[in-house]
Amino acid sequence: MSDISVIILAAGQGTRMKSKTPKVLHKISGKEMLYYAINEAKKLSDDITVVLYHKADLIKQTMNQYFDDINYHTQDHINFPGTGGAVMGINYKHKKVLVLNGDMPLMEASELKQLVIKNKKLTMSILALKSADGYGRVVIKDESVIKIVEQKDCNVKELEITTANAGIYCFDSDFLNENLPKLSNDNNQKEYYITDLIEIAIIQNIDIEPVIVNEENFKGVNSKLDLANAQTLHQNRIKEKFLKNGVIMRLPDTIYIEDDVEISGESILENGVTLLGNTKITDSHIKTNSIVEDSILENSSIGPMARIRPQSNLKDTHIGNFVEVKKSSLDGVKAGHLAYLGDSQIDTGTNIGAGTITCNYDGKNKHKTIIGKNVFIGSDTQLVAPITLEDNCMIGAGSTVTKNVKSGELVTTRVKPRSISGFFYKFFGEK
Ligand code: UD1
Ligand code: MG
Repeated sequence: MSDISVIILAAGQGTRMKSKTPKVLHKISGKEMLYYAINEAKKLSDDITVVLYHKADLIKQTMNQYFDDINYHTQDHINFPGTGGAVMGINYKHKKVLVLNGDMPLMEASELKQLVIKNKKLTMSILALKSADGYGRVVIKDESVIKIVEQKDCNVKELEITTANAGIYCFDSDFLNENLPKLSNDNNQKEYYITDLIEIAIIQNIDIEPVIVNEENFKGVNSKLDLANAQTLHQNRIKEKFLKNGVIMRLPDTIYIEDDVEISGESILENGVTLLGNTKITDSHIKTNSIVEDSILENSSIGPMARIRPQSNLKDTHIGNFVEVKKSSLDGVKAGHLAYLGDSQIDTGTNIGAGTITCNYDGKNKHKTIIGKNVFIGSDTQLVAPITLEDNCMIGAGSTVTKNVKSGELVTTRVKPRSISGFFYKFFGEK
């Protein structure tokens, strides 16, 4: 279905967000709201135009990380503010023009498709709500839509209407071209409203097709409260997908999983787990309150309270409580307690004692620690990188290792204990 042009409105300031960040760049499950709108639009169209004005460059730059085939149109916001002004002056490739809002991160392409009806010049989306507070009200008479009145322009009676305009429309491009110049800003906000096209269509005896859409998915995010609610719904969607695929989650409501995360096999997520960025988990057990970011875990267990930072790759590995791993590859390793393993590569059969730390940063640069197979590292060891520990070697507890260690060697650097008998009683006075 690529004979549709899509316009996504994202030029508004988003005043109700009370933020310096443009509304559509607020994130849900790790990605900006506008990303989701464009991503769904791409399933329907090869001609997508995003309308920008406020912080346009920042929004463009951010979207360029994800998409390279989107058109950007700058709204003449000074002369033509409002959602109607936003769609003026755009060239469309196709006859059907689907208009979406950039502040609707939950809409799905399958639902949007319902608005594209071949022989209808104008289709609009409607929400049947308990309270339509914040939305434009759809005035219906004798089962037909007559007009949309914005909340700020409603009289007392119109305010009571609970049928709301969801804000998504499909127009024939010739209807838009002909009628956009007829919009006026004669309303309380002094804006050009796209919604006034409905009344114009009725005057022209054009049949309007109202499509009732799902409230949850078509909720516009206008405030931080809306953002938090949309986040919960989006998280539920992500988690449902994994639960259906066989992942076990203990108290799913306490788990946070970002949009690009992949989980497969027989994996278990305990309560409070956070999975961020481009993380891939296979057949692994992530215990209570652990965080994994941009990393790959295979047949491993981590936590409780472990942190796996970006570019880590764990295979057949056990990471225990209070262990931090960063930019490291661990294959068949055990690090059970309180350790920091950064910029390291550690091989099969190696045991990392409690309190072991890779000293990877010298204040200017980061250096690598390479540890071979079957290495036994005693507790409270500092490995000063760059350093290599060959296969089959041992480090005594409490050592600071600054030189490479050869196969078969034991290295220990701790000072010999000194005993002074009776010192305690002398120091504190005999009782
Ligand atoms: C709009 C509708 C309202 C509907 C609601 C659904 C109008 C006049 N009102 O109201 O009937 O119930 O959506 O969520 O259309 N935008 C621009 N340029 C502008 C102004 C806004 O591109 O000059 C963009 C915004 O960035 C946003 C979208 O249009 O993505 C909607 O704007 P918003 O201010 O959220 O409109 P609502 O008041 O929610
Ligand atoms: Mg809105």
